[in-house]
Amino acid sequence: MKGNILVVDDEQIVLKSCERILSPEGYGVDTATSAKEALSLLDKNFYDLVITDIKMPEMDGIEFMKQARQKNPDINIIVITGYPSQESIKEALRLRIIDYLPKPFSPTHLLEVTANAIELKKRGIIPEPQVENYTEEVAVKLDAVIDRYRHKPGSLIPVLQEAQELVGYLPPVVQRHIAGGLKIPVSEVHGVVSFYSFFTMKPKGKHNIRVCLGTACYVKGAEEIVKKFSDGLKLEVGGITSDKKFSLETVRCLGACGLAPVVVIDKDTHGSINPVKTLDLLKEFE
Ligand code: FES
Repeated sequence: MKGNILVVDDEQIVLKSCERILSPEGYGVDTATSAKEALSLLDKNFYDLVITDIKMPEMDGIEFMKQARQKNPDINIIVITGYPSQESIKEALRLRIIDYLPKPFSPTHLLEVTANAIELKKRGIIPEPQVENYTEEVAVKLDAVIDRYRHKPGSLIPVLQEAQELVGYLPPVVQRHIAGGLKIPVSEVHGVVSFYSFFTMKPKGKHNIRVCLGTACYVKGAEEIVKKFSDGLKLEVGGITSDKKFSLETVRCLGACGLAPVVVIDKDTHGSINPVKTLDLLKEFE
């Protein structure tokens, strides 16, 4: 089975459609016509994904999501909404949803967002309870960036660049925020973030050190440089010092092979680095 899914909607026709589309594709599907019924199913069963309507009588989808998260903070949620107002979507995004489906949705769209949500869960990209640097204030600034680019073609990359400047990195919650704002699937945002090496999903230190391990740099001792930084700062590659001052990463060819071995600290490129004097590069940050 591809995954266990709980669909919650007060309209039987929506439940039946989801079941008819998802079951033949290999998903196990349970349905609930109310938030209350869904919460009791969550007590009894494990679900890889919950797909829920926002507008429901008695308890709406937002309150349902809050209670579902109390039961399982890592649960993956997609919301269905017939009224995709900015406010309801923003509220839902704050509750760390994976994606949303505006009604009426096509079978292809449902299958696409479902497959993406299950894939993100498999890769361990699950909604996080708290994200460093992603405050309410930053979220408002990000909304302004999205508004500025919303109707421009090719807006995704510049929005991601500004988002990375604002937050420092692009965790899944920021990717979902951007996908919701630009009205594109989260999978598209995630695809671009993973493709380009200048986008990062991990937080960085105040000063980010990148050591090139491309062939030209490698043969001139780049591995020794990595070790010097790693030992001197007591951090692993991909890590960040406890005072958050430095982070260390390795990259493949920075396009400056003539200067090998090459280290880039923040935006400054340092060439022909002597591995013995590697740590001298950090003196200016003391
Ligand atoms: S291999 Fe290091 S810059 Fe090209």
